[in-house]
Amino acid sequence: MNNKNELIYEGKAKKVFSHDDEDKVIIEFKDDATAFNSLKKAKFEGKGKLNCQISTRIFELLIKKNIPTHFIELKNENTMIAKKIKVIPLEIVLRNIAYGSLCKQTTIKSGTVLAKPLIDIYLKNDELNDPLITKERIELMDILNIEDLDIIINLTLKINLILKNFFKKIKLKLVDFKLEFGYDLKNNILLGDEISPDNCRLWDLNQQNDTIVSLDKDRFRNDLGGLIEAYSEINRRINEFI
Ligand code: TMP
Ligand code: ASP
Repeated sequence: MNNKNELIYEGKAKKVFSHDDEDKVIIEFKDDATAFNSLKKAKFEGKGKLNCQISTRIFELLIKKNIPTHFIELKNENTMIAKKIKVIPLEIVLRNIAYGSLCKQTTIKSGTVLAKPLIDIYLKNDELNDPLITKERIELMDILNIEDLDIIINLTLKINLILKNFFKKIKLKLVDFKLEFGYDLKNNILLGDEISPDNCRLWDLNQQNDTIVSLDKDRFRNDLGGLIEAYSEINRRINEFI
């Protein structure tokens, strides 16, 4: 980054800098990891690079399948150039298998394969602890109109089909994932943020029995160890396949 690139925003896992072109930004992936709204924090050397590489490959795959995303190009190992977007403050979670908060908040048994994908929408607000919200509350808060919310939900379902199929080919089960969307300068809805083991649950399908082996941020959330090894394995499988 040079002096001209001003820090616009710093999140838990990424920094966003201005770009010489007004309609672009530079996104730097950090080595920091947080869980449970920052109650738990750590640094993993190399995580930023791995998530940047993995996200790049996934965005490239989605773009090929006509999903509108903010991704433009990889700049270097841990930075990418993306279109500038106004982030919609919603976290769109899609679940194929019941796990994590769904099982803590309901009586659904962990590991239950859901008959159809479940979409849970959370308000992106650290102070409120990212609460689960409803369509009606979204409308009341004037976050976006319901037509745009439907576009986002349909894109999420389409992304799920593409990713589920892709990860299956590299022997990974896509349990659930979180997406964020935004508006570009022309008001188009684009997929933003990142797609990496930080915001997807991925289970290894190379297991003899039904043992769950998480190759994602659950290694940190649940103190399993081996986070960098897991992310490296995902990166290796993706690069071997593509
Ligand atoms: P959950 O089971 O904790 O609700 O998580 C569902 C999915 O969303 C899982 O793949 C992890 C991801 N996620 C994020 O990316 N950011 C978050 O802040 C949370 C809570 C979950
Ligand atoms: N990203 C969230 C946090 O830092 C939580 C998570 O991914 O589990 O707090």
